[in-house]
Amino acid sequence: MEKLVILGGSRLVGEVEISGAKNSAVAIIVASILTGDVCTIENVPDVSDTRALMNIINQLGGDAEFIDKGVLRVDCRELDSYEATYDSVKKIRASSYLMGALLGKFHRARVAFPGGCDFGVRPIDQHIKGFERLGAKTDVKYGCIELEAERLVGGGVYLDVVSVGATINIMLAATLAEGVTVIENAAREPHIVDVANFLNLMGANIKGAGTSVIKIKGVPSLHGGSYSVIPDQIEAGTYMIAAAATHGDVLVKNIIPTHLDSLSAKLSEMGVTVEEFDDAVRVSCDSDKRLRAVTVKTQPYPGFPTDLQPQMLTLLTLAKGTSVVSENVWDNRFKYVAELRGMGVNVTIDGRVAVVEGVERITGSPVSSTDLRAGAALVIAGLMAHGVTEIYNLKYLDRGYEDLVGKLKKLGAQITRREIVENNSQSNAKRSKKRA
Ligand code: EPZ
Repeated sequence: MEKLVILGGSRLVGEVEISGAKNSAVAIIVASILTGDVCTIENVPDVSDTRALMNIINQLGGDAEFIDKGVLRVDCRELDSYEATYDSVKKIRASSYLMGALLGKFHRARVAFPGGCDFGVRPIDQHIKGFERLGAKTDVKYGCIELEAERLVGGGVYLDVVSVGATINIMLAATLAEGVTVIENAAREPHIVDVANFLNLMGANIKGAGTSVIKIKGVPSLHGGSYSVIPDQIEAGTYMIAAAATHGDVLVKNIIPTHLDSLSAKLSEMGVTVEEFDDAVRVSCDSDKRLRAVTVKTQPYPGFPTDLQPQMLTLLTLAKGTSVVSENVWDNRFKYVAELRGMGVNVTIDGRVAVVEGVERITGSPVSSTDLRAGAALVIAGLMAHGVTEIYNLKYLDRGYEDLVGKLKKLGAQITRREIVENNSQSNAKRSKKRA
């Protein structure tokens, strides 16, 4: 087991190269099942979520391996199983895409309920509604969702909630179906466009991705090919916020700046300087300037992303005045605030709304990640704090941030990853707690 140790107070200065989008890559890896061929996917981040899906592809009879840095070869010619069981699926939310891809390819799928970060109830009713609309019968047995269809025939699906996962999953199931499927009230996130572009390059006929109405005209088969994943806007946003949080000066490279418009606007409103270039943004802030409080409301894209809410709230803990952060996507995404309290922040939570009273300083503390983006928020808090912060439970951060320590060190952060050495009194205390 390891922990991160951060000595706060250093300004982040320099350039950081952003990796491929984790949430795009995970969907594209699964989408390659539909090709039944060989795909070369570039700009894939080497993180535990992509590794977990590679393992699942291998367990299903395919062959997924990194052949170079960021270059993944996925060979699905011999992939012949439609069953993904609990052990492989429980760790990762994106394994839900196996339902759409396996159903599309085999007209059958048996997939354990997907895992992932815990933000309260994470229903999949909209995915199921879409599959049923295409003609699949669905059942739940022994913790698995079973899907079966003699024929998959396109139809109209109106999503009751804007869901990234349901939009992608229905797109996957409909790609090889007969006829035309229309998804209304579809999510518009950049990674939905990315998955559609990948499928189209392999021979699919998908129009309207990136708008709220997506039309998928089924095709009989897909072929293999090469594709490059878009840059990770959430990783980019995390470094932009970290730059502002340390009153630094950072050029965030290899990004699509329009994907980050909602964040850039909020940072500017706070008094941060954000300069946009073709494929980069520079975020800078005077070292003696106190940032202003703002109101943040998370929304589906192009609104402010829920996946940057914990990082943004953390930045606001030192801003001058009172900020209000409303979480409109997930039921329960403020768990990490309990960890920040030990660092001296002044935040009150009422349901989906957090009120942040800016304080003049926060101090280092031992803290534990409660999910992926919460982990990123704690890293930012550690960079902002006086003294040393130790961050435990790194499995979440490892799911989605490639080379986090290396990238932050290059920008001047004092951060190291260390083995946790348990002293005898700690391990004895743990053992007696277990016995109790
Ligand atoms: C994706 O999750 C992302 N994960 C999440 O990022 C992100 O927070 C989320 O979209 C919202 O942007 C991946 O892309 C792998 P949703 P997903 O379906 O698809 C409700 C990260 O940190 N809903 O768009 O699971 C749901 O409860 C992760 O990288 C239903 O009611 O999210 C939520 O309130 C965490 N019924 C809202 O919709 C359904 O059938 C949005 O969920 C499906 C969803």
